[in-house]
Amino acid sequence: MFLNRRQFLGASAALSAFPKVGLAAYPQLVAREAVQQIAPSEFPETPVWSFGGTVPGTEIRVPQGGRVQRQLSNALPQATSVHWHGIRIDNAMDGVPGLTQDVIEPGSTFDYDFAVPDAGTYWYHSHNRTIEQVARGLYGPLIIEESDKPDVDRDLTLMLDDWRLDAETAQITNDFDNGHDLSHAGRLGNIVTVNGQFDPSYEVRASERLRLRLINASNARIFDLGIDGLTGWIVALDGMPLETPLEITDRFPLGPAQRADMIVDVRASASEAASLVSFERDGGFGLVRFDVSGPGRAVRTGIAALPPNPLPEISVEDTPLHRMSMQGGAMRWLSSAKLGETELSGQELAQLGRFWALNGYAERPKDPFLDARLGETHRIEFANETAFPHAMHMHGHHFRIVLSDGSLGPWRDTVLLGRGQSRQVVLVADNPGSWLLHCHMLGHAASGMMSWFRVT
Ligand code: C2O
Ligand code: CU
Repeated sequence: MFLNRRQFLGASAALSAFPKVGLAAYPQLVAREAVQQIAPSEFPETPVWSFGGTVPGTEIRVPQGGRVQRQLSNALPQATSVHWHGIRIDNAMDGVPGLTQDVIEPGSTFDYDFAVPDAGTYWYHSHNRTIEQVARGLYGPLIIEESDKPDVDRDLTLMLDDWRLDAETAQITNDFDNGHDLSHAGRLGNIVTVNGQFDPSYEVRASERLRLRLINASNARIFDLGIDGLTGWIVALDGMPLETPLEITDRFPLGPAQRADMIVDVRASASEAASLVSFERDGGFGLVRFDVSGPGRAVRTGIAALPPNPLPEISVEDTPLHRMSMQGGAMRWLSSAKLGETELSGQELAQLGRFWALNGYAERPKDPFLDARLGETHRIEFANETAFPHAMHMHGHHFRIVLSDGSLGPWRDTVLLGRGQSRQVVLVADNPGSWLLHCHMLGHAASGMMSWFRVT
């Protein structure tokens, strides 16, 4: 059988052990324009930006402990980069222009090549002009498979997004930098899609057991989710398995960039439908429909936790605490903050499109928020002094939430903070390099909520 070059190189993991002298590169991931039916079928198609020609982009799936190797080729009219969200990655591959690499100019390429230590549900997305590029569709799922897979009938990735489209032409509205969105809740859309489709449905059988990998790729929307005609558990958050699966008895939030893996059983019977439901102010609506047909499966009961990832042991005793105060935005306007070493008034900052600050800086400061030595444990208190919720994301590490009784909650890479809320997290700084720490509401990140820490 004749293997084409793409398959040959992709399948040949051993090649990565050798220096890449003169060897043509990895499978290509092309960032390019495409057209897709985003709005309901009576509307025109929408021009999007994509990884590989579709939104979401090409699913990348590798076994735990393997490598992701892709040559990013930029066929867009704008410079780009790729961030592999949630991967405890080699710093040079983290995809942050100006911190870990240069932007990839139109017509250029960049080779991404990194090991993936943890199984779970991750994603990749543009990290340049993110507020526009992610809104235009530059994201895709990154699935790292455990060797010991749970017993399910199917494994479905569901990537949630909300789009702001012109109500007649279905074009993405080109108002990414408008001051109202930046200073309020961010860019909220007028149409919600799952896997790039409005109101998708999947055929299932009665009593099937499904693994649903939910990924929130939207710029700013916090989903409030529930299930109907299904019962089950959340088994992982932000890729990391929960020690004890959490039975879904109520709604649960999914902030921008967050993931939740659920294992659910279809309870609806043949010719009925089950659904994933999003709760809005005016009630719940189905995001995804599962149409039940065919002969049913045998009912399963009980659930086992997913196998744990190789995460560090954490003890909170005597760990230094660093406070990050989150400031500004509508109703709590900044009185002043720094750009570089220059202190500007809130009004001057607003004219420059800066509405938020982290510890007094309205952009990524020159010095890191935290300078950690390799292996140290640190606590961070995120203090949300603003009138809006935020989704704070840390690159290169997962952290544990410190619960109100002092015990340690789940491992996460992105934590939601309600208006006025403070929360502590604790991490082991075990991945050397310079790492971003920012709000994943992309308009907030672009208008001031951007910081970083260093591990040496
Ligand atoms: Cu998913 Cu710095 O981002
Ligand atoms: Cu925010």
